[in-house]
Amino acid sequence: MGRAPAPPARLSLPAHDLAHLWWIALDGQDPYECDRLFDVLDPSERQRCGKLSSPGSRVRFTVSHGAARCVLARYLGIRPHNIRTTTSRWGKPELDGIKPILRFNLSHVDGIALLAIARTREIGVDIERRRDAEFVSAVSARHFARNEARWLAATPCGRREAVFLRLWTRKEASVKAVGGRLGDGLPLPVAGRCRSLVVPAPGNRTGSLRLRDIRAPRDHAAAVALTGALPFRAVHHWWRPEFTESTGAAVAPAITRQG
Ligand SMILES: CC(C)(COP(=O)(O)OP(=O)(O)OC[C@H]1O[C@@H](n2cnc3c(N)ncnc32)[C@H](O)[C@@H]1OP(=O)(O)O)[C@@H](O)C(=O)NCCC(=O)NCCS
Repeated sequence: MGRAPAPPARLSLPAHDLAHLWWIALDGQDPYECDRLFDVLDPSERQRCGKLSSPGSRVRFTVSHGAARCVLARYLGIRPHNIRTTTSRWGKPELDGIKPILRFNLSHVDGIALLAIARTREIGVDIERRRDAEFVSAVSARHFARNEARWLAATPCGRREAVFLRLWTRKEASVKAVGGRLGDGLPLPVAGRCRSLVVPAPGNRTGSLRLRDIRAPRDHAAAVALTGALPFRAVHHWWRPEFTESTGAAVAPAITRQG
């Protein structure tokens, strides 16, 4: 089997009506690759990683954050370990700088991470796994807008979980676009049959968001949100280890494999 072609040195920023979505497989990566990815993390990410209790969660953290850095670096034209980020009031990571040239957001569940990138509009993404009927009833009755909770309760069991997941990911993507908290988003009305819809910004914010459902693996759902009402399309990419750019430094100790 021939080697995969090298990724482009520089990726073009998405057009204003596009969101780029990068799918990252977190499990089954080569241990050497995990060490190379650990190498591009910044000190605070390494510290967070070190606090995770299981080797599996350390590997997933390393791959999601390391791969995200490698992809962002190719849009920015800099080395992955040179990317500087800050976090907004409720923890949304963003590029450090007065006027960043791109916006991004990350979501992960099980062995999947999804990195969403937009040019100027704030972006939020969410991927979730199907929940059981008990969770669905409890959360929707307690936190969803009243008409949505009633509609869900009237949806036949079996279908209800899938509908809940669709609404949940739309709500969370909206919250993440504005860098808010989950509690702001749960009452946000997001029901609608179209895969692309406009909703008000969650919490007490002004303006609106454009939401889009994303095709996700079986028993999962995903959604992406951009600020503003203008429609957008999503373009999907798959991250590959070839995207990892070495820091040139010695490979980090095999911390991701420690017990
Ligand atoms: C943002 C939030 C909805 C994400 O929930 P989640 O389903 O667990 O996580 P996801 O996998 O979709 O996204 C996590 C990623 O989103 C980003 N993120 C973190 N806080 C964010 C925020 N407020 N807005 C947007 N993105 C955020 C980070 O990249 C994070 O990845 P990391 O933890 O590996 O650094 C939730 O953490 C939240 O409500 N945060 C606000 C602060 C808060 O209330 N914290 C208490 C925790 S319940």
